[in-house]
Amino acid sequence: MEKIKKTTPTQYDIMEDIKTRWSPRAFDDEPISESEVKLLLEAGRWASSSYNQQPWRVIYGLKGDAVYDRIMECLIPFNQDWAKNAQVLMVTAYKKTNKDGEEYFHALHDLGLFMGNVVIQANHTGIAAHQMGGIDQEKAHREFQFTDDYGIATAVAFGRYGGDVEKLPESLREQELETKRSRMDIEDFAFNGNFKSKS
Ligand SMILES: Cc1cc2nc3c(=O)[nH]c(=O)nc-3n(C[C@H](O)[C@H](O)[C@H](O)COP(=O)(O)O)c2cc1C
Repeated sequence: MEKIKKTTPTQYDIMEDIKTRWSPRAFDDEPISESEVKLLLEAGRWASSSYNQQPWRVIYGLKGDAVYDRIMECLIPFNQDWAKNAQVLMVTAYKKTNKDGEEYFHALHDLGLFMGNVVIQANHTGIAAHQMGGIDQEKAHREFQFTDDYGIATAVAFGRYGGDVEKLPESLREQELETKRSRMDIEDFAFNGNFKSKS
């Protein structure tokens, strides 16, 4: 099957793995092994974090195992409809308290750095990631027995690029096939001077 090619109109020339990453909802049927998952987590492990506190925690399931099904049960129905195409599902969580027992203000920031590494490493090996805020966080917290000082952030679906768009609900196909990606211009969010609000 022909892989969908997205156009990423960059203002400056950037690394291929940043440029070619995108978030599919259709994934190839080829399984992802546990060691492939560990490779992605290895990339995440080397992210920087405030005082090297590494607040990230992850639950992962491979298609066919019980953890995968338990994660699936925590997704909102909209995400369940397409995430069933994924070969690996993850729940991401973060530690809410820092080394002094106070609020860990940068925990979500640091989890984001972790995930940034994971998704770029994934892209480098031909694996696509689709992150989801649409997860019942309280349910996932209970289901995976997190303690009170941890919060659930997201779920993530992984699979190889090149999935069959026909496997998606019809309402999601057009967006999947849209080739042009878009972003705000740099000048609209970065200022060599005072903040300027456009919205
Ligand atoms: C924290 C976060 C939450 C997201 N939540 C969802 C979600 O619940 N469902 C979904 O289909 N996509 C979700 N997305 C995917 C975004 O819509 C997508 O990353 C964005 O449109 C940019 O597209 P790209 O990743 O292909 O560049 C989420 C992405 C992030 C980073």
